[in-house]
Amino acid sequence: MKATATANANIALVKYWGKRSSDPILPQNGSISMTCDGMTTKTTVEFSERPEHTVMINDEEFKKDEKDIHGHIDRVCKLAGIKQHARIISESNFPVAAGLASSASGFSALTVAACSAAGLKLSPKELSILTRQGSGSACRSIFGGFVEWHRGNREDGSDSYAEEIAAKEHWPDFRMIATIVEAKKKPVSSRGGMAQTVATCPYYKDWLATVDEDLKAVRDGIKARDFEKVGSTAEFNALKMHATMITTKPSIIYWIPATMEIIHAVRQMREDGLQAYFTMDAGPNVKVLCQEKDISEITDRLKDLDGVTNTILCKPGAGAKIVNDHLF
Ligand code: PMV
Repeated sequence: MKATATANANIALVKYWGKRSSDPILPQNGSISMTCDGMTTKTTVEFSERPEHTVMINDEEFKKDEKDIHGHIDRVCKLAGIKQHARIISESNFPVAAGLASSASGFSALTVAACSAAGLKLSPKELSILTRQGSGSACRSIFGGFVEWHRGNREDGSDSYAEEIAAKEHWPDFRMIATIVEAKKKPVSSRGGMAQTVATCPYYKDWLATVDEDLKAVRDGIKARDFEKVGSTAEFNALKMHATMITTKPSIIYWIPATMEIIHAVRQMREDGLQAYFTMDAGPNVKVLCQEKDISEITDRLKDLDGVTNTILCKPGAGAKIVNDHLF
């Protein structure tokens, strides 16, 4: 009753921002992401006779918070009909809770490892639906390459799942450089931030009204390997999402001076003829979208910026999978 899984983080090119239901988690809009080779979580789960679930993340005991890991394990136990409790150890090779989608790799590795340890045999679609109930964006990390999470319409969430739209081999020279400007825990969680946006942003309906055209442009752009189309749509989509965050009450501003420094640097790169676009999530870090041919020039320019403490280079990566080497 022990299993280990790895999963990569994913970064959205068309963002999920807002829930229409929080139990079960269901999104207001569909989204598309790239699964990121280079930002990986490995999780071992073992079920045995013990009084409660214990969770260690990066050598620290996890205390219950709004991302309910214990509740998610209970969900797996219920499905499998088992009464034991889990020991969970998880390690990520990148900063957690800093707007780098660590909950996506975390919840997908946890779901895949827990289901295997519990003897559940679920299809990738079923795993995606189950993962979504722990953390929305995590349902995309079950798959590799480029992934779409369908909004769905049903109240039970049975049509709100992710699927691969292009394999990682389809576009091997697509790159994302995650710049680390501040590897601290963020002040407002994505969960709290999106709830506040849906409740108080006067422009939220305008955000929703433009998502479908962004989904189509990015989907078509990925299929045609049209970098300009994907990059420019992703950048505009991220700015629209941040516009809704900034105009909530109270205002949520994830950007710090270094964020702006990178945004302007990327715009300068384009002026200088480099193909680069940016995207950002619920945090100050900026992810730069580019292609293999421009990697060294773009990375050198980013590393020269005062506020950038580190960069992580990602290419399209694999979906969540079971591995044989356990963490304990
Ligand atoms: O699934 P959550 O609660 O981690 O929310 C993710 C929200 C964004 O990262 C901002 C957008 C996205 O689609 O990943």
